[in-house]
Amino acid sequence: MIADPLASFRLDGKVALLTGASSGLGTQFARALDAAGAHVVLVARRAERLEALAADLSSASVIPADVAVKGEPDRIISEIMAEHGQIDIVVNNAGISRTAAALDDDVEEFRREIEIDLVAPFELARKAAGPMIDSGRGGSIINIGSVLGHVAGGRMKTTSYAAAKAGLHNLTRELASQWARKGVRVNAIGPGWFRTEMNDQMFDTDSGMSYITSGAPMGRPGNPGELNGALLFLASEASSYVTGQILFVDGGWTII
Ligand SMILES: NC(=O)c1ccc[n+]([C@@H]2O[C@H](COP(=O)([O-])OP(=O)(O)OC[C@H]3O[C@@H](n4cnc5c(N)ncnc54)[C@H](OP(=O)(O)O)[C@@H]3O)[C@@H](O)[C@H]2O)c1
Repeated sequence: MIADPLASFRLDGKVALLTGASSGLGTQFARALDAAGAHVVLVARRAERLEALAADLSSASVIPADVAVKGEPDRIISEIMAEHGQIDIVVNNAGISRTAAALDDDVEEFRREIEIDLVAPFELARKAAGPMIDSGRGGSIINIGSVLGHVAGGRMKTTSYAAAKAGLHNLTRELASQWARKGVRVNAIGPGWFRTEMNDQMFDTDSGMSYITSGAPMGRPGNPGELNGALLFLASEASSYVTGQILFVDGGWTII
């Protein structure tokens, strides 16, 4: 008998670590993982926001942390293992996005963005991969990349963001290849434009909206919830033969 294909999207009994859960896409991802049955461990710096979100979910806990501080990825994974004895899903979503033209950029700020958007996801992925492999259960790691990790920003001058997200995309492929026979799948989602605290100033200006709508063949930004399908697909057994992929959810931004 063929199994119910919708059942393969369920995450019952899974423990999911989600960084950047205190706002924007992370809050939406937390709700989606929770609705699919996972226990969601919410990570970000603003603890009170995480606590409020956790109280609204069926099964969630909170670990306030700055993921770019040395030792914090280790502490996060250790706390999850001590509390739950397993980790099945990691969503590396925490990130910042600076705009600075290369000639005006500050190299220390550039380094700081690489630490948050690239080094921290690497640290979390490899600290989580150990127990995923040792348990024999495997796992799914999902990095939140960007269209700006695939193509240049044009009018948007995001030098360090472009470098960090491009690095994250190929780190995804490299880790996927290293861990493919160990049961750990590593994929990325490449969102187009979704209104959040990160970019709401763009959405509030005519020039920003024109940049978004003219660059996306669909002629519009993404709506809340339009990343959930990709997230649940990659997190679950529905994607059991998928690894090392960058799934763009971008209204076609990267096809032209
Ligand atoms: N929105 C878009 O159009 C878009 C497009 C492509 C990719 N993305 C990516 O999607 C992800 C989420 O972005 P968003 O749009 O939802 O932006 P957002 O609303 O600004 O959320 C960013 C999240 O990252 C957390 N964060 C930032 N630095 C952190 C640190 N050092 N340690 C721990 N948490 C940290 C923030 O929490 P705290 O401040 O509480 O720590 C916040 O929860 C990012 O990786 C971003 O690059 C977004």
